[in-house]
Amino acid sequence: MKVVCLLGSPRAKSNSAAIAKRFTDTAEKLGAETKTYRLNQMAYRGCQACMACKTKLEKCALKDDLAEALEAVAQSDVLVMASPVYFGEISSQMKGAIDRFYSFLKPDYLTNPHPVRLAAGKKLVFALTQGNPDEELFGDIFPRYDYFMKWYGFSESHLLRACGVREPGEIETCPDVLLKAEEIARKVCSS
Ligand SMILES: Cc1cc2nc3c(=O)[nH]c(=O)nc-3n(C[C@H](O)[C@H](O)[C@H](O)COP(=O)(O)O)c2cc1C
Repeated sequence: MKVVCLLGSPRAKSNSAAIAKRFTDTAEKLGAETKTYRLNQMAYRGCQACMACKTKLEKCALKDDLAEALEAVAQSDVLVMASPVYFGEISSQMKGAIDRFYSFLKPDYLTNPHPVRLAAGKKLVFALTQGNPDEELFGDIFPRYDYFMKWYGFSESHLLRACGVREPGEIETCPDVLLKAEEIARKVCSS
């Protein structure tokens, strides 16, 4: 089983990265092969809307640090996306990467019953951390991205969310979320 992890936080001792790490550590113990990309340390641009992936190539035309990560996502069985909430959204680092997922769509994706170049049946794990303790706030983020990822063939998805964590490393005060990351890893890796 191949697990690819995209980390959207820029900071050391990142809360969202810690949730993802608990997942990947558990997955590795169960025999999964994992690869983690720290997006903030990579040089890449968002989608340029050049449409090369719809007219002359089967993949994104941009040859930057994200190219390898996109290929890894395409080959993965499980994709872990971990991001802090910034201004009610995922981080710009993560959004820039997601926009490049446009290259996974076939040219006739609007009418094709199989619109995506990816194999079906991938699994998604989405980790989100926010400073605000109110779970009602920013609860819209996961469903919005899950909608698109379902379309991309990620039929099974799981949310790992920590609210009220602000300082670096504060996630350690949320053992329930970290335990849930282990639990989801066991579920995902054994099915
Ligand atoms: C630029 C910026 C914007 C933020 N915006 C929000 C926000 O809109 N809502 C919120 O609850 N927390 C917000 N936060 C707090 C972070 O979501 C919180 O510190 C989170 O735990 C960071 O996760 P990380 O450690 O993985 O980077 C913001 C922090 C920064 C630096």
